[in-house]
Amino acid sequence: MIVPKKLETAEDIQEWMVKKLAELLAVEPDTIDVQQPLESYGLDSSRAMVLVTQAEKMLGLEVSPVLLWHYPTIEALAQRLAEDCEENTSEVQDTNAASKSSPTLNLQAEAVLDPRIYPASSYFAFTSTPDNVFLTGATGFLGAFIIYELLKQTNADVYCLVRAANLHAGKNKVKNNLEKYGIWEDSFESRIIPILGDLSQPLLGISQEAFEMLAANMDAVYHSAATLNYVYPYSALKAANVLGTQEVLRLASMIKVKPMHYVSSVAVFESPAYAGKVVKEDDDFNHWEGIFLGYSQTKWVAEKLVKIAGERGLPITIHRPPLISGHSETGVGNTDDFINLMVKGCLQIGTFPDVDYMMDMSPVDYVSKSIVHLSLQKESLGKAFNLQHPQPVPLKELVNWVSKFGFAVEVIPYEEWQNQLVNISSPDNPLYTLRPFLLQRWSKEQITIPDLYLKAKRPFISCDATLQALAGSNIVCPPIDSKLFMIYSAFLIESGFIQMG
Ligand SMILES: NC(=O)c1ccc[n+]([C@@H]2O[C@H](COP(=O)([O-])OP(=O)(O)OC[C@H]3O[C@@H](n4cnc5c(N)ncnc54)[C@H](OP(=O)(O)O)[C@@H]3O)[C@@H](O)[C@H]2O)c1
Repeated sequence: MIVPKKLETAEDIQEWMVKKLAELLAVEPDTIDVQQPLESYGLDSSRAMVLVTQAEKMLGLEVSPVLLWHYPTIEALAQRLAEDCEENTSEVQDTNAASKSSPTLNLQAEAVLDPRIYPASSYFAFTSTPDNVFLTGATGFLGAFIIYELLKQTNADVYCLVRAANLHAGKNKVKNNLEKYGIWEDSFESRIIPILGDLSQPLLGISQEAFEMLAANMDAVYHSAATLNYVYPYSALKAANVLGTQEVLRLASMIKVKPMHYVSSVAVFESPAYAGKVVKEDDDFNHWEGIFLGYSQTKWVAEKLVKIAGERGLPITIHRPPLISGHSETGVGNTDDFINLMVKGCLQIGTFPDVDYMMDMSPVDYVSKSIVHLSLQKESLGKAFNLQHPQPVPLKELVNWVSKFGFAVEVIPYEEWQNQLVNISSPDNPLYTLRPFLLQRWSKEQITIPDLYLKAKRPFISCDATLQALAGSNIVCPPIDSKLFMIYSAFLIESGFIQMG
């Protein structure tokens, strides 16, 4: 057995990490900038965890996976690991890195909208037959289905904000995404116009002239893009999710006032202050204390910015999906999403936790059809919609269906299951990647994020007003039942994402 060299100084550790990152990315080490967030190298949570685990082995330290939340660059991470080595490696490491490094973030104080963002005039003409609309997030999961619905339910041309090297690549990125979900039609080609840019940049990374052209000519703006990452902290996600939303609001307000349709999340009600309470579409969501996940924090702040813009007179609608599951008829879904990764991981270890969870997920076709339909109704303006599933079912039902389908699974006590997670040593199991999200303990109560999702700690998210707004539209949320489960399973097995036996 090769005994690795003991790394002690921040410099050594940094050098080692650069080498490892270069290997992971298959690039030359001198292309790595130690001051860049790891995220900017496109290092997803799973590959970032590979790096952390290798560091753990090399340093002989128990490296908390959550360190990456707080030290997102190689330079910062190496410095912190060197300090840990010095302190005394035999001491049990502080797995709650948050207590050591991050002061409590005041989300209310973050919710400040640029005072220059005001509707350009008090005149606004609503149209339910837009000619041109602007959409962010068309290369994502929900965004693919939103653009599909826009192309089907309207005659509008859709201008899509895309991160790509050139227009040709940008258009292909949108097209390939729709193909991936089986919803591409050749007739869409001429109606999709890529706009190169980046949500995290001022003016969305678009030139002033192009931004003004869009502001003058669009009839509506749909904002679905966001960075979904369960590992990074608020600070790493703020530019795209919060400041990006501010730029989209700027676009909607400038030159010609146009409605801004914002894809938020039921996560805005994640504060324990809402536990056990019924929250309705138009309820205020002033509580932010106890929202620990950086992603959820950004969604709370971003929705607040949208509300503020609404109070300044911008026509807005807010759409809050729960977890979004696959298409209810074809089963096609996002295999990188939380639900699929959890199910795959649990199948791999052969156990599910015995927890009182409700599966409040809504199929992507229901979510996208609803967003587009509601956006075309004048009465929707100024309102929020909860795209929560009207009849969520307990997780235990899912486990029953999994067993009936022929998978060998056991339900074990939650703590035992958590211990099993600690012992997963291979990134081949998706639960390994999700460990920081599943195991990090927060606050004085030392609760994990999944603890917040236990039924007793959740609000009851009412969708009555949303169902009423959809009445007469033929849009119905498909029930979560064994039929839907079979449709999803068939897709996951056919695509090779999960294996039987
Ligand atoms: N999925 C869920 O379960 C769920 C639940 C509740 C709410 N939501 C909300 O629904 C929306 C869509 O989620 P999704 O599942 O479709 O996510 P997704 O599949 O991860 O897609 C995210 C989209 O945002 C784009 N994006 C991210 N950062 C960007 C940047 N800096 N500049 C330009 N574009 C950027 C991505 O573009 P690239 O292709 O260039 O990366 C992609 O098109 C998000 O606002 C999310 O918060 C999702």
